[in-house]
Amino acid sequence: MKVLFVCLGNICRSPSAEGVLNLLAAQKNMDVMAGSKGTAAYHIGKAPDPRSQACALKRDIDLCKLKAQQVVVNDFYKYDFVFAMDSDNLAHLHALRPRDATASLALFLKDYGALGEVDVPDPYYDGDAAFDRVLDLLFDACDRFLEVECR
Ligand code: 4NP
Repeated sequence: MKVLFVCLGNICRSPSAEGVLNLLAAQKNMDVMAGSKGTAAYHIGKAPDPRSQACALKRDIDLCKLKAQQVVVNDFYKYDFVFAMDSDNLAHLHALRPRDATASLALFLKDYGALGEVDVPDPYYDGDAAFDRVLDLLFDACDRFLEVECR
């Protein structure tokens, strides 16, 4: 099963989601491959934000080898699930998605989160607590995703 997480810059939320889902799937011996991209082109080629990397490392997730990429139409044929990190990203992805796409498209927390948020809040202009909150939300929803879709 292939899962693509999409945020704006692909340096904070979606690479974190990629790392969390890959970690949990490996721990549970599940055949899942997560990737991530952004809707915007600003950060193409860059590693995840150092704050995201530091928060992820505290939870045994190493994001240092990832490089930001921008989502393309073909992704809707390569993945089984495309998940937006927030409603703005979702609107962008709906506009990009071809009619005969094989991937489903959804707002990740709306479908799998249980902590009362539907958008993963953009932590870019906030402090460390915001980056930790992103990981809390992602661990919760990724756990449920694996339980519901990969059992
Ligand atoms: P992300 O966070 O979408 O979670 O990667 C952001 C990264 C960069 C910017 C905004 C959000 N930016 O404005 O450059």
